[in-house]
Amino acid sequence: MCGIFGEVSLSGDCLKRTINGIGSLEHRGYDSMGVVYKTKEKTNIAKIISPDQSKSANDLYGEISNIEDFCPVALGHTRWATCGKISLNNTHPHKGEKSYLAHNGNIINVSKLKKLLGSEKFVSETDSEVVVKLIDKYYSKSGDLINSIEKVLSLATGANSFVLFNQDFPDKLFCASKGGPLLLGKTKDSVIVASDPAAFLSRDVKRENLYKIEHIVAVSHNSWEIIEKKRASEIVDPFLDNGKGDYPHYMLKEIFEQPQTIKNALNGRTELDRGNAHLGGLHDIARDLRKVETFHFVGCGTAYNACLYGAALFNRFGIDARAWIASEFIYNHPYIKPNDAFIFVSQSGETADTIEVIKEIKMKGNICLGVVNVPDSRIATMTDAGVYIQSGIEKGVASTKAFLGMISVILLYAVFLARQRKMTIDTGIGILKMARELPKMIALILEQEDKIKKMAKKILRFDNMYFMGRSMNYIIAEEGGLKLKEITYKHAESYPLGEMKHGPLALISPDFCSVVIAPNDSVYAESLVGIKEILCRNGKVFIITSDDYDFDLPLDNIRIPALPQKYEFMYPFLTVIPLQLISYYIAVELGLNPDKPRNLAKSVTVN
Ligand code: G6P
Repeated sequence: MCGIFGEVSLSGDCLKRTINGIGSLEHRGYDSMGVVYKTKEKTNIAKIISPDQSKSANDLYGEISNIEDFCPVALGHTRWATCGKISLNNTHPHKGEKSYLAHNGNIINVSKLKKLLGSEKFVSETDSEVVVKLIDKYYSKSGDLINSIEKVLSLATGANSFVLFNQDFPDKLFCASKGGPLLLGKTKDSVIVASDPAAFLSRDVKRENLYKIEHIVAVSHNSWEIIEKKRASEIVDPFLDNGKGDYPHYMLKEIFEQPQTIKNALNGRTELDRGNAHLGGLHDIARDLRKVETFHFVGCGTAYNACLYGAALFNRFGIDARAWIASEFIYNHPYIKPNDAFIFVSQSGETADTIEVIKEIKMKGNICLGVVNVPDSRIATMTDAGVYIQSGIEKGVASTKAFLGMISVILLYAVFLARQRKMTIDTGIGILKMARELPKMIALILEQEDKIKKMAKKILRFDNMYFMGRSMNYIIAEEGGLKLKEITYKHAESYPLGEMKHGPLALISPDFCSVVIAPNDSVYAESLVGIKEILCRNGKVFIITSDDYDFDLPLDNIRIPALPQKYEFMYPFLTVIPLQLISYYIAVELGLNPDKPRNLAKSVTVN
């Protein structure tokens, strides 16, 4: 409820128009009315309350002495009390240090936001005052108003919309919506913002000149600027190479950046109150995605391993999916149904093999989506829609943080698509909450660097090895084996642990080692059986397990934080980390440069 009306116009008539505007919105609430308006000299505010419903917007005129002054911007509000009683103090617009705000909605986590303001005193009992004060607090620190609005919008839960006037921008209004209704309309001499189409009826706003605000819009007298969901200032600059810092190699630096990599991928994209992923890049295509029967992931190298994860995760969430190695795709003559969609995964966004598949699929007319790191790369521009992983520049040829960024975004895709289908809101909330814990868990694993380095030194003496795991950790075995080959030139093969007995076991001897990924998940008992089969043939086993794993076998082990079994599909985010470090330290011990492995290139633009 509540009505918001604002207008920006060089006609200078905005105050009267705004009073009329909120008058046309009284069906949204009439407990009190207020207006903030700019005149040449100053910013003015007028408010009235109407606890007995006796007053209307026009009664605001009685509070205004300078009604004929030139007024290029005004913002008004008519209130239906939700947060705080009917009083002048609780009447909108509310004031911060430099901003005034008219708000519609309900901030569910207002007490949490209040804490961010420390000892700040409040004039009103409203959640709206908390919002405007918090925006101004961030603005005074950063000097970036849009960024500050965006930050508060993402922190606030609940369906909300608001319009803000800031004295540093005397000819603008800033409008924001997170599920709350807010419309823009262009007249012949102004731009109007209103929470209801009723406000446009008497204002000659043509339907084609209307715009529904879905995030943040900066409004001036003859145009508006739509601010994308993610602003560059909040993204790790994709082209910024700030060097290796104190790290000897980019690869090590990038491994250690990974807690931040997940944060970057999730930032602003988890809507905890709706148990859903907020993926702006998929917004326009969401209805079509609801009809998709099968999703096909396509990629190469590490990106292909991310595809394997994607397919496994989608299937676990009840969505049919499979993964394809891009260079093999065409030879398989796959049968593609009209409603199938493709998800192309690539760090560089330039991989020729992947691009060939996009061309083929575009010819067939199926939906092409992207999970890409480098903005405006070919894959990013060729696909119909997509989500950037926002890992920042990755210099190490052997991909590390981009893999984590890919599976983070794939997890968001999975939640979004599953929520469209059968996933409940509670399940969505649980998954997203757990995902937000992953950066801390990865940091704990990285603290074990010395222990992992010692394990790497022990593995060093083996020239041949298996990487194995079951279920989703088999995928991490693939990624661990690929890393080892890429940068140490040692021979590694990756197998599902259960396949051992069907042939690979023949190679087991004291000179052959196995790196087994076996956290305490739903298949750990079976993993233990596989490990014992190796040990009783005098094979050497190194295990990556979780810290709640209780075994009596004398194995070299790295312990990662345990996950509740219902979230075991997130183990790959954790188990991959020690494997990256093991390969890195083996390469370093061998005197190799892990950043420049022989025969390889970071971006392969030939077929
Ligand atoms: C090359 C790189 C790999 C990478 C693969 C896919 O082979 O050496 O590290 O995983 O290309 O690259 P993309 O940029 O598409 O993720």
